[in-house]
Amino acid sequence: TSDVQADLKHVLYSREQIQQRIAELAADIDKDYEGRELLIVGVLKGAVMVMADLARALHSHVKMDWMAVSSYGSGTQSSGVVRILKDLETDLMGKHVLIVEDIIDSGLTLSWLKTNLLSRGPATVEICTLLRKPAAAKVDLDVKYVGFDIPNEFVVGYGLDFAEKYRNLDFVGTLAPHVYE
Ligand code: PRP
Ligand code: MN
Ligand code: MG
Repeated sequence: TSDVQADLKHVLYSREQIQQRIAELAADIDKDYEGRELLIVGVLKGAVMVMADLARALHSHVKMDWMAVSSYGSGTQSSGVVRILKDLETDLMGKHVLIVEDIIDSGLTLSWLKTNLLSRGPATVEICTLLRKPAAAKVDLDVKYVGFDIPNEFVVGYGLDFAEKYRNLDFVGTLAPHVYE
């Protein structure tokens, strides 16, 4: 495989910064859900790293499930029309659900997903995302746990891909222009 470092412009958040922030989010989540059973739902594929690290940073019992969704529409922008590729195996009736994401961009995917999960009769549905781009928001979305608000730049790593690559980086960075030009 070719040299990953050569494809990167700069590191936005290092492994240490991400792990530190995830520990803080986990402490908030432990406190907020004390005495309640929590189901965390990871949105494949981007959320795998956040799910794995967040779950291990939590001190409370937690159950884990996964969904895979795909946005219809052309190009790289999500359209808001979402298709379920893999559904949950858990019945959400009466459950406390926390959706875990790597990034909220337009917010269209999560807005659709939150509405969809709310229709299944859970006690609560909240959202936790490592990254959020406020300048890209197309819908009002209430996000309870946000790792970092970032500028409207294309970022990769720690689950985030460009054409399915760079997900395996342990940090978040921006790509050098030669990669996508
Ligand atoms: C990315 C990201 C979020 C979504 C955010 O997933 O992981 O799930 O887009 O975009 P939005 O806020 O504009 O809706 P993607 O569809 O690229 O799938 P992936 O997680 O498999 O990479
Ligand atoms: Mn995703
Ligand atoms: Mg993607």
